[in-house]
Amino acid sequence: MTDKILTGDRPTGQLHLGHYVGSLRARVELQNQHPQTILIADMQGLTDNGHNPAKVAENILNVLADYLAVGIDPQRTTLCLQSGLPALAELTQFYANLVTVSRLERNPTVKAEIASKEFGASIPAGFLTYPISQAADITAFRATLVPVGDDQLPMIEQTNEVVRKVNNVAGQELLVECRALIGKASRLPGVDGKAKMSKSLGNALVLGASEKDISKAVKKMYTDPGHLRIEDPGKVEGNVVFTYLDAFHPDEALVAGLKEHYQRGGLGDGQVKKVLEECLQELLAPIRERRERFIADKGELMRILQAGTQAAREETGVVLQDLKKAFGLPIL
Ligand code: TRP
Repeated sequence: MTDKILTGDRPTGQLHLGHYVGSLRARVELQNQHPQTILIADMQGLTDNGHNPAKVAENILNVLADYLAVGIDPQRTTLCLQSGLPALAELTQFYANLVTVSRLERNPTVKAEIASKEFGASIPAGFLTYPISQAADITAFRATLVPVGDDQLPMIEQTNEVVRKVNNVAGQELLVECRALIGKASRLPGVDGKAKMSKSLGNALVLGASEKDISKAVKKMYTDPGHLRIEDPGKVEGNVVFTYLDAFHPDEALVAGLKEHYQRGGLGDGQVKKVLEECLQELLAPIRERRERFIADKGELMRILQAGTQAAREETGVVLQDLKKAFGLPIL
């Protein structure tokens, strides 16, 4: 049986290299093998930006342009907008009755985000419950495979709990369980060496970065603080330049050679950074050019989003109707 793929991102900023490594790259390949839908999760973006909807609204087309720029093809992948799909909100409301508040509070991703966002006692209800809405996203498309970064694993687990509960109540296999597809280097550190690349931490390199931005980011990139002289042996573990070479350089043998030389001593940080910079410039130049062309034609972007959302509205509406029928509710 072929997989059905659903994935998505919150449009709260431009997408960056962390997204690329975590799942964008995989999605470009997967669209040739399976039916795939990508959801621009604006409703989820609002769960911690409720008082600043402009931040979400203005990034919808940015994210769409990022998708198209990396090679997502709207002929192969359905690109749709979460707020344009009322069935998702309705399914969320049904599922919310089968999920406890304490289970949500225990979700490790939500827990970590609550701590890092410093909500204190003012956690928005929509934020605490967003795993339920993500379960609605996934199940409404009958997705079986969800390509995401590894921070999303708890969401998949909670989605499958919802699936089992709903099926139990419905007395039939109404919804399907899904599994995560985790990228090769699913968590890219920021250019400063911090555990995760993230726009809010200010350590991200966006896909539309200029040549100069790329050059600057590589120059200030964290290496081995103990590697003071070129002739000293250096460490590759925790050395962001090597982590990035592993994630992006197409020539694995060359990277292995550089590592060996660096560890032995005699290879300067500057030389390794030069190899990385060339590789990133080469990767991002065509993406930047395509991105600029798409962003310059907002009308075309809107047409793509409109067509994908229309198709998705029909698809998700069917699952909602099936659930209502299975629950014995009249279809009016
Ligand atoms: N939670 C995801 C993120 O933080 C975005 C998302 C929303 C998503 N709905 C989804 C991912 C459904 C996969 C499947 O980026």
